[in-house]
Amino acid sequence: DPPNLQMEDAATVSRLNCRAKGGAAGFKVAILGAAGGIGQPLAMLMKMNPLVSVLHLYDVVNTPGVTSDISHMDTGAVVRGFLGQQQLEEALTGMELVIIPAGVPRKPGMTRDDLFNINAGIVKTISEAIARCCPYAIVNVISNPVNSTVPIAAEVFKKAGTFDPKKLLGVTMLDVVRANTFVGEILGLDPRDIDVPVVGGHAGVTILPLLSQVKPPCSFTPKEVDYLTDRIQNGGTEVVEAKAGAGSATLSMAYAAVKFADACLRGLRGDAGVVECAFLASQVTELPFFASKVRLGRTGAEEIYPLGPLNEYERAGLEKAKKELAASIQKGVSFARK
Ligand code: NAI
Repeated sequence: DPPNLQMEDAATVSRLNCRAKGGAAGFKVAILGAAGGIGQPLAMLMKMNPLVSVLHLYDVVNTPGVTSDISHMDTGAVVRGFLGQQQLEEALTGMELVIIPAGVPRKPGMTRDDLFNINAGIVKTISEAIARCCPYAIVNVISNPVNSTVPIAAEVFKKAGTFDPKKLLGVTMLDVVRANTFVGEILGLDPRDIDVPVVGGHAGVTILPLLSQVKPPCSFTPKEVDYLTDRIQNGGTEVVEAKAGAGSATLSMAYAAVKFADACLRGLRGDAGVVECAFLASQVTELPFFASKVRLGRTGAEEIYPLGPLNEYERAGLEKAKKELAASIQKGVSFARK
């Protein structure tokens, strides 16, 4: 049997009692794929997040070591590890936020869609367990291709009768993080002061930065728009090639995942005005799923904002994005239904 990694202590009990009494003592979060390239730094950063009271780390390999290591950090969250499929349900029970970076990453020359055959099955299995064990949790899907894995999870939840479109969110935060960084470089501004909406999906031309809506208001030459759009759309490939076979973005992704998860938790806590981009079931376009700005609240993505005015360049980009996105969504739906 795998080792028992449960680590209960008086602090957990008092924290849980405090929650039960309505105290603000944090949320229960699970990371599935926690021993991977993204999973490990993500687990570390979530252990540092004061909004997390319980952190469950699940993987099919190596969770005992990662859990032991992370659990020595002197922060509030209580860490428990779960190893292998037979502990998946236990890992999920009672969770309020589930973050999924499980699955294989790209190697040079691969598209995100090349990962479909392996990752589609992983996300399907995990989604079935979520529907059984924590149907009300907010789910953050990182596993690629996000444009297909989110529709797969949605189909599984629909079949189980648990689908809540406000709670199933594909993580496109890294595209926004990259856009803010690259725009900051061009403008000579601190990236923390920049807000670039990135809509559409999370692969190649489906990643659509709306450079006409950058805050603070600014303007770019046509050459800068081409450069920025291309770099934001291919930022993932830039990292895959630099890592030369050793994987894809993991550290910036873990940072982006925590930024997004923290926004979800602040929304759950009831904070006002929490707005981020996410890929979710949407009526912003004629497609059943689309990424755009959403307002995160106590029940998930409570409001989806329209795309706003697009210029001619962005309208052309949108048409291209929708074409590829429609096929990726359909591929996920067909897989889940077969
Ligand atoms: P990795 O291979 O380093 O880690 C993946 C982890 O998932 C491994 O520890 C593996 O054991 C685990 N795993 C495999 N099957 C599992 C299962 N059935 N249940 C639970 N865990 C399982 O890969 P990395 O670099 O962490 O990437 C993970 C995923 O995130 C990939 O699909 C990658 O394409 C995607 N990704 C998404 C981004 C986004 O912006 N949404 C950005 C970067 C990567």
